[in-house]
Amino acid sequence: MSQAILEVRDLTRTFGGLTAVNRLNFSVSPGSVHGLIGPNGAGKTTTFNVISGFYAPTTGQVIYQGKNVSGMTTVSLARIGLIRTFQGTTLFKEFTVLDNVKIGFHGSVRSTLIAQVLGADREELAAIEKQADELIEFFGLADLRNELAANLSHGHQRALGIAVALAAQPKVLLLDEPFTGMNPEETSRMMTLVRSVRDRGVTIMLVEHDMHAIMGLCDKITVMNFGSLLTEGTPQQVRTNPKVIEAYLGSAIDAA
Ligand SMILES: Nc1ncnc2c1ncn2[C@@H]1O[C@H](COP(=O)(O)OP(=O)(O)O)[C@@H](O)[C@H]1O
Ligand SMILES: [Mg+2]
Repeated sequence: MSQAILEVRDLTRTFGGLTAVNRLNFSVSPGSVHGLIGPNGAGKTTTFNVISGFYAPTTGQVIYQGKNVSGMTTVSLARIGLIRTFQGTTLFKEFTVLDNVKIGFHGSVRSTLIAQVLGADREELAAIEKQADELIEFFGLADLRNELAANLSHGHQRALGIAVALAAQPKVLLLDEPFTGMNPEETSRMMTLVRSVRDRGVTIMLVEHDMHAIMGLCDKITVMNFGSLLTEGTPQQVRTNPKVIEAYLGSAIDAA
């Protein structure tokens, strides 16, 4: 069996009397795009929150690169390459595209300012700017380099959000509904971007309602229902599985 880059083992998370995630198991292969889907309330966001360190597991484990990382903070996890993006992007809207990506490299506004004022030397700052420009180019934002993030279209803001996350050099990127609110053209551009991020060697885990995007992008899909694992498999296996169709009452899957 090939070594997983990320695994959850018997993962449970309760909130008071409610079991949001119930003895969940799955493993993510390095270099893959791995989907996590399920009806509303299935426990997908909670699973992401536990993997990325926002919540501790109630029981069970999160294994990253073969190591038990359960209960580690988001900051420590980000440092070792496990990074999550948020639905409402966390861009600094009054900063330029370039500055947002630079902040991604430094990890925070504070360390960016410290680096610029007294820390890093000129060469190091130039190196970061060069890498930032490469990412900006890669995400098709070169013409908008000096534009304020606030002035970008919805699709460009999402792309910038992922560029900022990539600047932190993730090994695993957890994307939480990156396609929400996108028009078909933005969706198709974002699908191309997700693939090219994967081609850079970043493993991607994707929670998403857009079935067209999920089916088109994922190597493997884990399906949750009522906190538990319903099934998993390739897009083809999942979309034809009667249990999945029943859980969704046909609607979302048929639409894909
Ligand atoms: N912080 C919380 N406190 C209490 N209940 C929560 C909390 N987060 C999630 N839940 C509950 O856990 C269940 C799973 O939610 P969630 O993980 O958001 O599902 P999904 O993302 O699949 O829609 C829901 O019943 C939700 O109300
Ligand atoms: Mg959710």
